Parts: sequence; C-alpha cells; structure tokens
Amino acid sequence: MNTQRVFWTLLISLGAFLFLSNIHAADKMEEAFRNSVFPNDFGPTTINVSHYPKKMQAYYKLFLAKCSKCHSVARPINAQFLELTPKGEIFAKKEDPEIFKDTDVWKVSPVIWDKYVHKMMAKHGAVITKKEGHEIYEFLVYDSKMRKTGANTKKWEKQRERLLKNLEEITEGL
Ligand code: HEC
Repeated sequence: MNTQRVFWTLLISLGAFLFLSNIHAADKMEEAFRNSVFPNDFGPTTINVSHYPKKMQAYYKLFLAKCSKCHSVARPINAQFLELTPKGEIFAKKEDPEIFKDTDVWKVSPVIWDKYVHKMMAKHGAVITKKEGHEIYEFLVYDSKMRKTGANTKKWEKQRERLLKNLEEITEGL
C-alpha cells in the first residue's frame, strides 16, 4: 500500500468514526431530554378546592408548600395517578369503566400515591415529616378521585390528553 492510500484510508475511517459518535451523542441527548420532561409540568399549578371538606383544604396548603420544592406542583397535580382500594376498583369497573382504558390518562393502583409520596420523601433535600407525608397522601387520594373520575372523567381525559399532545409537539423534530 502506498503512503497516499494509507492516508486516505485513515482519513475516511476517522470521518466515519466522528460521524457515528455524533449520531450516538445526539441519541443520548434526545433520550435524556425525553426522560427529564414531564407532560404534567405544562398543566395547571392550582386546584379549586373551595368545595372540598375543610380538612382537605388544609392538607392542600401543606401539599402546595411541600411538593413545590424541587419541581412545580403541576407535576403531581397533572399526574395520571389514581389510587383506588381493591373494593373501589371493582365498583369503578362497573360505574366508570372509561378510567381503565388508557394508563397514560388514569394509572389506577391501590398503592400509587402511597408509593410516590414515600419516594419523594426519601429524596435528598426533602423535608417532609411522617405526619405531613400522610396528610399530603390523603389529599392526593381524595383529590384524584374528585378530579379524575365520576362526573369529571371526560374533563380529566381531555386535559391529560392535551398535555400529552403538547409534549409530542415540543419533542417532535428533535
Ligand atoms: C427533594 C426534591 C423533591 C421533593 C420535595 C418532591 N419531589 Fe417529586 N420529584 C422529584 C424528582 C427529582 C422527580 C423526577 C424523578 C422521579 O420521578 O423520581 C420527581 C417526580 C415527581 C412526580 C412524577 C413521577 C412520574 O414518574 O410520573 C410526581 C407525581 C411527584 N414528583 C410528586 C411529588 C409530590 C406529591 C411531592 C410532595 C410530597 C413531591 N413530589 C416532592 C423531586 C422531589
């Protein structure tokens, strides 16, 4: 092989290497971006609790204070999570079957808020006592039932789908 040939072979290999590693980096960036963006964050940051029981109104204030430290409260407010007891789930399957058709809109589980409140409490920098965690949890369970089921099933579906669609528009073309 003459020197010129070796030179070109090396140059082409180097070019191919740089090109491929760039694609890989872009893929990684896109993946990181998608994982860090929550559709929830683009929704409302308040809940109208004027018709909730007084106790729940007090817990709502605690929720606003404690769950807005690391992200906006939009994240839990617009989450697809819905906690129902096993009995409540059997009842809902008859009365409100819509809520089982799309887990991106309603993620139904008997422990979902329990799990997430504990997960958040364990995060570095979270200052939430056991009692506060429990009150916030009670609020989230009650509020999710009020806003995402029964008479509000359709309204919730529309709101959540709008958020998911907006996120698609934002990430489209990345
Ligand atoms: C110390 C920081 C911190 C505090 C305080 C905090 N969060 Fe979070 N939260 C995070 C981080 C980081 C994420 C993203 C990673 C994850 O899901 O674990 C997150 C994600 C979430 C999500 C999205 C989960 C998903 O996968 O869809 C919800 C819902 C949520 N938080 C609710 C809450 C609630 C409710 C509270 C109050 C009890 C709270 N957070 C308090 C840091 C925090």
